Parts: sequence; structure tokens; C-alpha cells
Amino acid sequence: MTAAWWQRGVLYQVYPRSFRDADGDGVGDLRGIRERLDYLVELGVDALWISPFYPSPMVDFGYDVSDYVDVDPRFGTLAEFDALLAAAHARGLAVILDFVPNHSSDQHPWFVESRASRVSPKRDWYLWRDPAPGGGPPNNWISDFGGSAWTLEEATGQYYYHAFLKEQPDLNWRHPEVRSAMYAALRFWLDRGVDGFRLDVLWHLIKAEGFPDNPPNPAYRAGQGEMHRVLQTRSTDQPEVHAIAAELRRLVDGYGARVLIGEIYLPLERLVAYYGAHGEGVQLPFNFQLIDAPWSARELAARIGAYEAALPQGAWPNWVLGNHDRPRVAARLGDAQARIAAMLLLTLRGTPTMYYGDELGIGRVDVPADQVRDPLELREPGLGRGRDPVRTPMAWDATPNGGFSAATPWLPLHADWRTRNVERLSAEPGSLLALYRRLLALRRAHPALAVGDLALFSPSAPSAPSAPSAPLPREIDDDGDVLAYERRGDGERLLIALNLGDAPRALTLPAWARGARVLLSTHDAALEGAGAPTLPRLALRPNEGVILAAPLSPTPAESSRP
Ligand code: GLC
Repeated sequence: MTAAWWQRGVLYQVYPRSFRDADGDGVGDLRGIRERLDYLVELGVDALWISPFYPSPMVDFGYDVSDYVDVDPRFGTLAEFDALLAAAHARGLAVILDFVPNHSSDQHPWFVESRASRVSPKRDWYLWRDPAPGGGPPNNWISDFGGSAWTLEEATGQYYYHAFLKEQPDLNWRHPEVRSAMYAALRFWLDRGVDGFRLDVLWHLIKAEGFPDNPPNPAYRAGQGEMHRVLQTRSTDQPEVHAIAAELRRLVDGYGARVLIGEIYLPLERLVAYYGAHGEGVQLPFNFQLIDAPWSARELAARIGAYEAALPQGAWPNWVLGNHDRPRVAARLGDAQARIAAMLLLTLRGTPTMYYGDELGIGRVDVPADQVRDPLELREPGLGRGRDPVRTPMAWDATPNGGFSAATPWLPLHADWRTRNVERLSAEPGSLLALYRRLLALRRAHPALAVGDLALFSPSAPSAPSAPSAPLPREIDDDGDVLAYERRGDGERLLIALNLGDAPRALTLPAWARGARVLLSTHDAALEGAGAPTLPRLALRPNEGVILAAPLSPTPAESSRP
């Protein structure tokens, strides 16, 4: 099995404001990340994706870039970035940058020039339109952060488009000079040695010609966020975006083994189109289904099966449990199921992306109203969309501010940081952090986990195309709380059984797994290496997940299975 580093490896997202503050201003920085690289090595991940650290007015905390080829002084310097990259590479860690192509800051010199006059040479680098015939915005497009997505520039009498804040004007990707400027920025970082990019809101880059209205969303319910009033079918996901993805891919491929990851929130069929029909798109269009899925075995099995079935030929899957925009996994599912989620993420087929702090099980953080920083929450308060609670500082130890900073952190820490921190959880063999470390070590040691085939054991899910010949046992437990699947490869078969409920459950084992070795249980490290019961049923305790391993050789019982 030959697999690229980004297929075999595990990605870890660092939100740089909140990982580690080395210069004592309450905001994390690049040196802080460098000083904690050994933690990532011990954890067992392979690559870090760092959210934006470019110069920025920080209206959207770095996703409003005012210079694509430098480092914001709050985060450090280019020299500090080079030191971080070298230190990461020396440890075998890849570094993936967050690139924000869709929009710049309104303080970017390009936009400053563009807005200055209707005849500015950079006017068409952004999206300017006359008011609608009766006055008002050119169409009904709504910003993802609420309100019209068009802002009137009084001086020139035209509106400019911004899918997000008015301080984040959208660039015109149909303009060849914009593309060249962006490609130059990518080359700047590739030449420095970065291993790839996560492309922010990739599906937004191209808007429909003529800027037609978006259709109303018939399923809109009050309280969802104003953006959901319309379906973004005209403002996003236009066919021409795929040619741009392919162009970006060609550029990055010119540098060898690099990776492009697309941030794309779309239904499955439209998401997988970003691989490109022949693999010419991005290698990993982020798959956020685990963030949105109802947490039941049937739902998850159905989604895993549907995703596997939808992948184009040769496409490599990926799974994400959390990020800086969505509620944390432990807040969504609670402590017990956060362990199951960890086992799921790290045993599915495809590249997993972890989010910093999820390995500590940071749960719901209540950010007091007077400490809210997220522009989304400030504009549309109280809808539960606010992102501050998932961006709070990492807790390293029980010293003041959790060892994150010598100063008061920019956001408060989780309430239980004195006990929920890296130092403390490292000393507890049964902690979630210890479970993550064991899972990551297993992924490294067992190619079947990292790159093997997958077959679901579920009556409700279609069989996975990756293992068309695998027999699908039908004996899933009747209560429907157990999600089970097989990973197979390199002379080994693994069975993963996850109890998604809080009652004991049992799973009827396929013949090959009877008496198999227990590689790992979420519940006790002591079990590891023991044989599974030779009984036909595997008993699972409430919220327990188990990985069994057996050599890959079909048993007579199995080959006689109808
Ligand atoms: C992406 C980022 C998010 C940001 C938005 C606008 O969705 O993940 O944090 O606010 O793009 O750049």
C-alpha cells in the first residue's frame, strides 16, 4: 500500500490566538506553537494546520487578511515563522497554512485602491455594482454574518459585495490579475517550504454571472441566522469554481508532495465534486458530516456509507470532528461520547482532522456577554452561532491561566481548566488525552487503520465500495445503538464496535472476530492484548468502544457464509 503523507497522517488544527502565548500579551503566537511542537509529536499527529496569522485588522480574527505574504506582529515575524516551520519539519511534522482567497480585509492595499475611484486599475479586483434600479442593494444576497451582503460606498455610488463582514470584501476571481496575485502569494509560502493549504470558503470563490437573486429558502425558520433566509445557489458553488480548484492544484503539485484542503459546506454530491472528476481538484474537500450528524448508530452508518459510495474513483476520504467555527465535540456529545467520537474519528477510513483542545475534552464554555469577541455573535446575538466558546485558550497545566499565558487571556478558559489540562490528563491513564494518544499510536502501528479498506456492519447502510467483496454480517445488535465496521489491510482485520448509547449492548461477532485480540477499549487500558470472548457475542458496556484485531485469513465458517 503506497499512501501519501496526508492520506496516512492525522491533521491537527491550531487556532494560533489560543494555543500558547509566548510573549505574554494574552494572545497566542507562533513562538508559542513552536515551543509546544513536542506535545504534538508525543500526541502522535502528523501535520498541523494553523488558522491565519497574516497581518490583519482582526475584525474576523485573521480571516480578514491585509497582507497575504507576511506575519501579523501579534503572532510574530516571518523569521519566527521560518523557525517554526524548520522546527516542525525537524520533528517530522508537516505544516499547512490557512489561505483566505475569497476575500481580503478592507484595509488591504488592493481594496483601498479599488474603492478609491470607479476608474481605479484595481476597481475590478473586487465586486462593484450599481444600486438596484429603484435604489438599494443590487440583489438579495445576505451576508453569512447577517444583513445585506452589499455595502454602499457613498463616494463612488456603487455597492461592493462581501459574503461575510463589510470589512471582508470579496475578490473577483474571474479577473486574471487577481488570480495571478493570489498564486504569487501561494508561491511565496510554498517557496518557504509549507506543506499545503487549507482553502477558506473555497465554494464561494465564483458567483453567478449577472448576480441574479438567490432563491428563498422554504425551510427557513426564525432563529437560524439570517443567511438561511435564502439558498446560496447563485452566490456560491458555481461550475467555474472547479477550474480554479484545478488551477490551484496544478500550482501546488508543481512543488511535489503538498496538499490542498478545501473548506466546503455543501451537500454530499456537491461536496465530492471538489475532488474533480479525475482527481484534478483539491485532495481533501473537508467532510463535516460528523459535526452535523445526529449521534445515532443508524444515522452515522448511513452517512459513512453514503459518503464512501459518493467518492469519485481514487478520491481519498477525510473526517472532521470539530473546528473553530462549530460547537466542540464534547459540548455536543458529553464526556462519555466524546471518547467514542475520538475512536470513530481515528478508526474511519480517511484522513482525520482533530481540533486543538478536543483531546482534553473541553466542553461548553460560557463566555460572559461582556467578553464576547466573535463578530458573528456580536451581530446576531443569542442564536447559539457564536464561536468564542470553541476558541478559548488551550490549558497546559494548573498554573495561572492554564499555562497558556502570563497575561489575562483574550478569552476565558474553560471552567475546569485546573483539572482539565495537558499536564494533569497526561498523568491519568484513563483520560481522554491518554485515549487519543493510544488511538494515534495504533493508527501508526496498524496500516489497516491508516489506509485499509472499510466495510460497515450495519443493516441500514449501503456496503462500502472500498471492499466490495467483503461479506456484510447482518448481526448488528437490534437496539441500534452499536455502530460497527471492519477495517482490513496489510494482513489484518480489525473490528471496531462503538456503543453510542448509555446502556449495555451486545454485538454478534462475525466468525473471524471470535477470539480476536482486543487492541483497545475506551474503558480500560488493562484489557489491551487480551483475547476477546470466544462467545459469539461481544458485550459492550455503556458508552464503550472496542477495537478487535485478527489476522487476515478467511475462516471456513466465513467462507461458507451465504
Ligand atoms: C471560514 C472560516 C471562518 C471565517 C469565514 C470567513 O468559514 O473558517 O472562521 O469567519 O471563513 O473568512
